[in-house]
Amino acid sequence: EKGGYKHFMLKEIFEQPRAVRDTLAGRLREEEGDVYLEDLQLSDEQLKGIDRVTIIACGTSWHAALVGKFLIEEHCRVPVEVDIASEFRYRNPVIDEKSLVMLISQSGETADTLAAMREARRRGAKCVAICNVVDSSIAREADGVVYTHAGPEIGVASTKAFVTQLIALYLFTIRLGRSRGMMTVDAGRALIAAVVRVPALMEEALKLNEQVEKVARNYLQARDFLYLGRGMNYPIALEGALKLKEISYIHAEGYPAGEMKHGPIALIDEHMPVVVLVPQGSNYEKVFSNMEEVIARGGRVIAVCSQGDSEVAAKAEVALEIPTEGEEVAPIILSIPMQLLAYHVAVLKGTDVDQPRNLAKSVTVE
Ligand code: M6R
Repeated sequence: EKGGYKHFMLKEIFEQPRAVRDTLAGRLREEEGDVYLEDLQLSDEQLKGIDRVTIIACGTSWHAALVGKFLIEEHCRVPVEVDIASEFRYRNPVIDEKSLVMLISQSGETADTLAAMREARRRGAKCVAICNVVDSSIAREADGVVYTHAGPEIGVASTKAFVTQLIALYLFTIRLGRSRGMMTVDAGRALIAAVVRVPALMEEALKLNEQVEKVARNYLQARDFLYLGRGMNYPIALEGALKLKEISYIHAEGYPAGEMKHGPIALIDEHMPVVVLVPQGSNYEKVFSNMEEVIARGGRVIAVCSQGDSEVAAKAEVALEIPTEGEEVAPIILSIPMQLLAYHVAVLKGTDVDQPRNLAKSVTVE
C-alpha cells in the first residue's frame, strides 16, 4: 500500500507531480487564457459583485491561504484577508453579502473551519471551499467547491494536499481575474503556462532527495530551526517550519526574512540552522542580504536557491538548488525541499513520521 516507500509521507511527496496533473486535468482553457472550475457555482456576475475576499483555514491549509492572498491581490486587485478559522469565529468579522469567503481544508471536516463557514454564511457571504475530500462536510455546505485531486492523503503531515491547494488557488485566481476583467487573455495564458510547467519542475526538484537526506544528518542535533522567506515564499517558510515541528519534534519558526532584524536575529548563533528561501525573483537581493546578516552572526545557513546560483552556493553552508524558471510558481517548487528536509530529519531521529504524537489527521474538535 505504501508502493515500496518506507512511509506514506514519502510516497505522497513523490506523488505530487501526478497530484498536480490531476488537479489541472480538464480545467484549462488555454486559448482563452481562462479556466473551467466545474463546481465553483459562481457566475461572472457574482464574481464581479464581490468587494473583498476572506480566506479561512487551519494549519497547512492556512499557509496555502497566505499564498492565495498574494495571488489574488496581485492578479485580481481585490483586497484579501486571511484568517485562522479558530480566530475568525471569535471576532466580529467584517463580512457581508459582497464578501466572498473561501475555506481551505484537505479533509473538509475540520471543526473550526466548518464553524467559520457557517458563521460567514449567516452573515450573507458566498462561500467557496477548496477541499480534497469529495462530499465532506465543508464541501457539502459550501455554495461552491474547487476540488483538489490529490487522492487520499494518509500521512498526518500534509504534503500533496498542500501543493494541490496552491494549484487550486492559481486556478481560482485566473477565474476571478478573468471574470472581473482584471486579467487580460495574455496574462491568463501566461499564468496557465506557468502552472502547466509545475509537474516537470517538481520532478526535477524531487531529485534533491538524496542530497537532502545527507544534509539532514548534519542538523539532527539542533534544538531550534529558523526558516526565512519573503513575499509569496514567506508562507513556505512557515510551512517548512510546521513540517519540521510536526514530525521531528524540533522547535522551528518561520519568519518573514525582513522582520528578522526586529527580534529573532538575537537568537542566531552557530547552534541554530537557518533555512533561507532565496530563489531568483523580485525579492532576491533583499533575501540575499538577510542571508548575509545571518552568516555574519555565525548562523548556519541552509539555502534553497535557483539552480546554478553560485553566489548563494558560495556563501551558504548548504545550497539546495531547485528549478525556478520564473518566480510565479516558486512557492510550489520550494515546498519540496521543505518536505524532504523535515521527512529525513524525522526518519533519522526515529519518530513516527506518518502518525506523529498528539496529532490527528483531521481535527474534528473545536
Ligand atoms: O483538513 P484540513 O486541511 O482542514 O486540516 C488543517 C490542519 O489540521 C492540517 O493542515 C494540519 O496542520 C496538518 N497536520 C499539517 O501538516
